[in-house]
Amino acid sequence: MHIPVLKEEVLHFLSPQPNEDFVDCTAGEGGHTEAILERNGPLGRVLAIEWDPELFSVLLEKSKKEKRIVPVNDSYTLIEEIAVRKGFSSVSGILFDLGFSSFHVDRSGRGFSFMRKEPLDMRYNKNNPLTAYDIVNKYKEKDIEYILKKWGDEKYAKEIAHKIVLERREDPIETTTRLAEIVKRVIPERHKENLKIHCATRTFQALRIAVNGELMGIESALPDAFKILKKEGRMVIICFHEGEERVVKKFLRSHKKNIKLLTKDPVVPTIAETNKNIRSRSAKLYSLMKK
Ligand SMILES: C[S@@+](CC[C@H](N)C(=O)[O-])C[C@H]1O[C@@H](n2cnc3c(N)ncnc32)[C@H](O)[C@@H]1O
Repeated sequence: MHIPVLKEEVLHFLSPQPNEDFVDCTAGEGGHTEAILERNGPLGRVLAIEWDPELFSVLLEKSKKEKRIVPVNDSYTLIEEIAVRKGFSSVSGILFDLGFSSFHVDRSGRGFSFMRKEPLDMRYNKNNPLTAYDIVNKYKEKDIEYILKKWGDEKYAKEIAHKIVLERREDPIETTTRLAEIVKRVIPERHKENLKIHCATRTFQALRIAVNGELMGIESALPDAFKILKKEGRMVIICFHEGEERVVKKFLRSHKKNIKLLTKDPVVPTIAETNKNIRSRSAKLYSLMKK
């Protein structure tokens, strides 16, 4: 079960009041959605959007017992259209808890983690035609380098891309563990010793972002979400890496006349939270109010 990150802080900034409506753009198994529902009864609803059909099935079950959950299995890139269709065109708060969930890493079997031997897939939704296998085995060396640099901030992007292309000539690179091994062999020992993360983390992050079009999706969804927020409505965005933060900061700058920033500096988890949930350690929460 995914543990909702920064739950108390999300509730503090969204500040749900009785009968207010909210949108959870990345509902997952519904952790944050349920926390909001505890505060916005008896009539307040949550439009719970989740792209992954397996996670969505959990939400759907929950919505059968709790009618105030309005579940939608689609991408938040369609938020404006979905909100209007479902009667959420003026809401009190919107949440984006970006990236993947514990389910993807631990149970999906889709190659999100280099810690397990799995096929290189990394799609949140199988209707998406592009897989991590396609990028690693079919893209040009220059394009792989671009992806690793742009979305992984990977210092050794050029070397890793070159090695990938050499290796795939021998045999297609089919599994997470083979890809992680390739990365491990390229990165110099002294750099690995200085890293606080596994040396394949950035490569896997970049591929996941590229496969799911994540940063372009966030870039288009944030302004669309802002449109359905009512005056004095609150938005909370939880980021997990610099790429997401850059997109969020750009959005905040471009809307600065119409927002009141509620977090001067992004809010991070307490040590108690990171001790309980190691995956929360890189979370950074941004929040705003619509003027
Ligand atoms: C960090 S998890 C959210 C966990 C959730 N807040 C909870 O407490 O259980 C992010 C979720 O966003 C979903 N997701 C990623 N891209 C999406 C998109 N474009 N549209 C909708 N959901 C998306 C992922 O499948 C994942 O379940």
